[in-house]
Amino acid sequence: MSINVGIAGLGVVAQGLLELSSTNADQLSGITGNPLCVTRVASRRLRDEVALGTIAFSTDLEDLVKDDDLDFVIELIGGTDAAYNLIKACLSRGRGVITANKAVLATHGNELLAIARDRDVPLAFEAAVAGGIPIIAALKTRFPANNIKWLTGIINGTCNYILTAMSDEGVAFEDALRRAQELGYAEADPTFDVGGMDAAQKLAILVALAFNVPIAIDEVYCEGIQDITIDDIRHADEFGYSIKHLAIGRQDDDVIEMRVHPALVPKDNLLAKVNDVENAVQLGTTNTGVLRFTGPGAGGHATASSVIADLTNIASGLYRQPGIGGNALKPRSISDVSSAFFLSIAATDRPGVIASIGEVLASHSISIASMVQKQEEVVRSADTSVIPVVILTNTVVERELNKSLQELESLDDIASPIKKIRVVDLA
Ligand code: HSE
Repeated sequence: MSINVGIAGLGVVAQGLLELSSTNADQLSGITGNPLCVTRVASRRLRDEVALGTIAFSTDLEDLVKDDDLDFVIELIGGTDAAYNLIKACLSRGRGVITANKAVLATHGNELLAIARDRDVPLAFEAAVAGGIPIIAALKTRFPANNIKWLTGIINGTCNYILTAMSDEGVAFEDALRRAQELGYAEADPTFDVGGMDAAQKLAILVALAFNVPIAIDEVYCEGIQDITIDDIRHADEFGYSIKHLAIGRQDDDVIEMRVHPALVPKDNLLAKVNDVENAVQLGTTNTGVLRFTGPGAGGHATASSVIADLTNIASGLYRQPGIGGNALKPRSISDVSSAFFLSIAATDRPGVIASIGEVLASHSISIASMVQKQEEVVRSADTSVIPVVILTNTVVERELNKSLQELESLDDIASPIKKIRVVDLA
């Protein structure tokens, strides 16, 4: 008897799935014991480039709910509302769902996972985070005899692709983004990628699994990469750092820290060497040290491969639904987080300006680890010359740093705003 599968969506991942399930058909039926057959696709529009053969097609997602010959539905439409309605309707009808959709899980995951548990049907989502990396499967084991203390990752392929292109090729932000879109990495609305929301959604899911807390997207501090310039990348490089868009989750007793933002990463750390669309997740554990997972974080085949892993696990009876939400969550505000900082300050090029910057920082007990005045980058105009001053601070609580920046920005010799980028200690 065949295992009948319906797919919602006909984009890059759906096309990858159709291709991989057909080219690996024998191997997949060998694993599950029965042939896997895609029998229905529903999507907003038919794409001429996709040959569906005998697969039924409609533009109405409801057809995937109504078709009782389907054993599972794979949701690949993205977005929240339509995906939420589809997943909820399928689960409520007792039909298992596989989704690659972090947005719907970040927004409605607690409710949908509860429905899946109540109905005793799978809601699987390996493909929702870090594309082809089996990080959900790893976190689901909960590492017996071990605790996860923190996780740090690069989990948005588009941001990583853009930062790599800016750093390695000097490509402008907009051109790098256009290339990422052409390669199918970016979301339908790429501001979700570059603004950090995509990574925030994925982090909320990873943290829920790693620390057994509810998915809490509203508690994730989120900054994107739109304001990072090639000069920032160059200055960070001179200090021995790469700039990466990082996702960080950490548990300290009953407090959870969740943040995504650009960060300076020491160049000899693995994360600094993760380039292009590659993703990486590092887990700090109590008894197995640091575990590192890397691989492609986006793209049709990589993501489809994770969907197929869920599908074969479910179809062969090996799938285990992860439990989340067992622990309460007390979020830490970003202003209570301690880090070192990279500061880029546009200062008037006059004697004493460096001393006044140092005085303000010292009055907030912030010590300077390194400081460079970029004389060769001075910008002269008729009545003034402005020079970039780049500083690495030692570790400071962000609330205190913000007070010092406010004070600096009120000085006549300092242009506002001062650029600040967190330096992440990955020890
Ligand atoms: N837009 C996402 C990224 C795709 O760039 O990582 C995979 O979730």
